[in-house]
Amino acid sequence: MDRILEAVKILKESKKVMALTGAGISTESGIPDFRSDTGYYTKMDPMRALSRDVLIYDPARFYTEGYKVLEDLQGKKPNAGHIALKDLEDLGILKGIITQNIDNLHYLAGSKNIYEVHGESRSVSCMSCGKQYPFRIMEEKVKAHEVPPKCNECGGVLRPNVVMFGDQMPDTFYDAMREIEDTDTLLVVGSSLQVAPVNMIPRYVKNLIIINKETTPEDSRAAVVFHENSGETLGKIVEALR
Ligand code: OAD
Ligand code: ZN
Repeated sequence: MDRILEAVKILKESKKVMALTGAGISTESGIPDFRSDTGYYTKMDPMRALSRDVLIYDPARFYTEGYKVLEDLQGKKPNAGHIALKDLEDLGILKGIITQNIDNLHYLAGSKNIYEVHGESRSVSCMSCGKQYPFRIMEEKVKAHEVPPKCNECGGVLRPNVVMFGDQMPDTFYDAMREIEDTDTLLVVGSSLQVAPVNMIPRYVKNLIIINKETTPEDSRAAVVFHENSGETLGKIVEALR
């Protein structure tokens, strides 16, 4: 059977479908992923660039390296892949999205039930008093060479609300795990499935449909695998469902 039709059949017959997305769904919006040939990690060391230790002990380095990743995301637009997932939710096929992405693009596409398990890039917070600020405030401070940027209320250091290596997972991650308990089909889109604990999520789900340009560790047990572009493939799936 045609793989699109195979995927559609599974989606239609499932009791509960969730999606798990990674940086690959957003490359078609002009945002590099992390681990492919054109990804960020060809230029920076992930354990250092986006780590809690560097943020705290070497903020100057954080604000010249890892921070750039966050800056790049501002002003980007959702692509066909994000829109197709929104359509799948509207069609009543998809229950929600668990995303590792911090680029806001599922929100901008109009998806509703979203779990941002690696945080987000809309806001920042003070590490001393917890006060929240829009991302723009941090951007302005960094542009004005205030490194590290400080809280207007208490003078504490500001940090992005992004999960970095060394950080604990946020509550949203545990909410997402609860959604997974009764999920029978997971649509994995644009993730290399290299980063724990998110890469364990597929192991809890019976049917996997994987759309990822490169192979992933879960390909062998997936029901259907597409080593193709996410925008085009998801678009075909939505079309076939309509
Ligand atoms: P990766 O860069 O590890 O994986 C992205 C995958 O998407 C790669 O395997 C690509 O082959 C694939 N890909 C790229 N463009 C694609 C396209 N148009 N269509 C289909 N597939 C495509 O990114 P993630 O798995 O998201 O953490 O990485 C997980 C985490 O590692 C990120 O959330 C980030 C990083 O450290 C934090 O920032 C906390
Ligand atoms: Zn403060």
